[in-house]
Amino acid sequence: MLDYQRRGIVPEKHHIVLDRPDGRGVYYEECITRRGFDGAYAILYHAFPTTDDGAVRKSARGWAAPVAAVAEDQTVRRRLFDSNKVPTGGQFVDCRVPVLFNPDLVVLLAKPTASDDVYSSNGDGDELVYVYSGKGRLESSFGWLSFDEGDYVWVPKGVIHRWHLEGSGHQFMVMEARKELRIPTQFRNPTGQLKMDAPYCHRDFIRPEGAAWDPSMGPSGPQTVVYKVRDRFSERTMPHHPLDIVGWDGTMYPIVFPILRFQPRIGQVHLPPTAHMTFAGEGFIVCSFVPRVTDFHEKAVPCPYPHTAVDCDEVILYVRGNFTSRKGVGPGCMSLHPMGVPHGPHPGAYERSIGTNRTDELAVMLDTFLPLDLTANAIALETPEYHDTWKIAAR
Ligand SMILES: [Fe+2]
Repeated sequence: MLDYQRRGIVPEKHHIVLDRPDGRGVYYEECITRRGFDGAYAILYHAFPTTDDGAVRKSARGWAAPVAAVAEDQTVRRRLFDSNKVPTGGQFVDCRVPVLFNPDLVVLLAKPTASDDVYSSNGDGDELVYVYSGKGRLESSFGWLSFDEGDYVWVPKGVIHRWHLEGSGHQFMVMEARKELRIPTQFRNPTGQLKMDAPYCHRDFIRPEGAAWDPSMGPSGPQTVVYKVRDRFSERTMPHHPLDIVGWDGTMYPIVFPILRFQPRIGQVHLPPTAHMTFAGEGFIVCSFVPRVTDFHEKAVPCPYPHTAVDCDEVILYVRGNFTSRKGVGPGCMSLHPMGVPHGPHPGAYERSIGTNRTDELAVMLDTFLPLDLTANAIALETPEYHDTWKIAAR
């Protein structure tokens, strides 16, 4: 939810008649509202009544619900997962693999190879998809949105959409915010505008080009929409094109944010990871680590200081660069450092960082304020010896 946008044709006031230009009746308003009727909202104008939606049936499409693995080893330890081992293939609407979850958040990984041949809508939460490889276009009720490697794609809860892939090699991390995803409140001034010292400005976000549907065209493309609510998938086949939108306005629409537009902060000495906060959810934050110069005190230790965050689980997806504080960690690896378990630079990395003045790392971090459960998929991706790589003898 960013700023007010308007596309296509809308009447001069909400909740009034919008006549069809061909004189054949009216367009139909649909309000999509958050927090009941008190939060962000969008108003869309449809060529057909939104309630004319065909029979509902259980769907064979979609992905598995997150279920906690019952591992023999119940120790709480530092863990590393290799997302490159996620099975390749399928459509994004089907091939997502849940790996970590708590009541606020589900983290899923996917390596799709085909564009979606159905539309879908996630009624369980906002989706923030980090595209760490590949490009394409998101088609939604709000129009077209191109995405590329290194982009966050934010698809609000309940938005009908599908993913079109271009080329190959797609790798996505999905953060499903079960309650809400937002621009951190402290980045906004009282009018809602992004503040001068926010780590990004309004121009950094890419918004949809739309509306998607040309009223001179009849139905085209798929007419089936798959709905997820409470991790159950249903579907309905519409008697008309599902994206029959001739115009919309509001503050709730899909957006793209390229990670390299994040303006990193540095300090005289090392700043906490929250200095890199990019998005916030209920119960978690998302941070972006981008290439930057490092701390400038003459005796600064630029490496992250060893720490024990006793109130949050920390997940980092390493995307590219030289991860100087870690060993055995390459692009596509994802670490989980549970609350209360000490972690930090690997042995030797702390000392080696002294005197360095820049880092070229690119990584996405999640801090969650409830512990994360692991699925069986996570166990299958795990590098089991990771916890012990901090032993001095392992240097
Ligand atoms: Fe940490």
